[in-house]
Amino acid sequence: MEDQAVELSLRPKYLAEYIGQSQAKENLKIYIEAAKMRKEALDHVLLYGPPGLGKTTLSNIIANELEVNIRTTSGPAIERPGDLAAILTNLQEGDVLFIDEIHRLHRTVEEVLYPAMEDFALDIIIGKGPSARSVRLDLPPFTLIGATTRAGLLSAPLRDRFGVVCRLEYYTNEELAYIVSRAAEILQVEMVGEAAMEIGMRSRGTPRIANRLLKRVRDFAQVKGDGMITKEIAEVALRLIKVDKLGLDEIDHKMLKAIITHFRGGPVGLDTIAATIGEEGQTIEDVYEPYLLQIGFLQRTPRGRMATVHAYQHLGIEPPEKKE
Ligand code: ADE
Repeated sequence: MEDQAVELSLRPKYLAEYIGQSQAKENLKIYIEAAKMRKEALDHVLLYGPPGLGKTTLSNIIANELEVNIRTTSGPAIERPGDLAAILTNLQEGDVLFIDEIHRLHRTVEEVLYPAMEDFALDIIIGKGPSARSVRLDLPPFTLIGATTRAGLLSAPLRDRFGVVCRLEYYTNEELAYIVSRAAEILQVEMVGEAAMEIGMRSRGTPRIANRLLKRVRDFAQVKGDGMITKEIAEVALRLIKVDKLGLDEIDHKMLKAIITHFRGGPVGLDTIAATIGEEGQTIEDVYEPYLLQIGFLQRTPRGRMATVHAYQHLGIEPPEKKE
């Protein structure tokens, strides 16, 4: 199977198979059941949180559980109001429309979405100038699922139109170990429990990373061993891939070292860090920083980012006297 096809087959299809996010899962289960009992479309759902935590997976599960079709697109892909109108008019009653990166919708497109979400209606302007008039077109009731890593960037009118708002949290090491064990079974590779835990611990709370590490460790097990993923194989492979005991990779290390050695631990602005290590500021903010904040290695202050004493200790650098 192609890597992408494998990726898809690893994704759970029903809530019962979905590991973790217990709060979001329990709530969604009730809302889905209630909507089905009333034979209504589920209220619009906003899923937010760091990348790789299962927003797309969960959207597909919601559509599956509702037994409706899902149409998937993303904020930047919808360039003009007409593109969104075409999508909306092709939906069937009860369908799910999934818009990934919804914070990147163009303002003009967003305005088409308001009446669509609120009244299941599309306002179309016909003609130009003084003779122009607006015609209202009815849409079938549908469920919009919006996903974003940056809920703070959503405009208030858009945010307010979601009846269900779920924040996805980082997974625990145990949940990640469980997820990779399930994935190993699907991939038909043998793995001991300690190896699953080793991978789980180094996946920075993120199933997407866990499954990626599993596939790379499987490669090592196949070539350097007999195919079985043991704790030793996992440790050697992860060391070679340069993922440390806490799941930090070379970029995390570069970033923390830059803050500590070039800027005496900070505070230093995000753009300055980005320029120093040659990464995009946006990538640092969306992908790297949230986990470093979560594990308490980084602090955000009004004057910039600061490395904490835990970051110094992890890198084996003596923290300065006054710090914390
Ligand atoms: N694969 C990726 N994310 C998962 C999850 N939350 N539960 C089960 N399998 C997964």
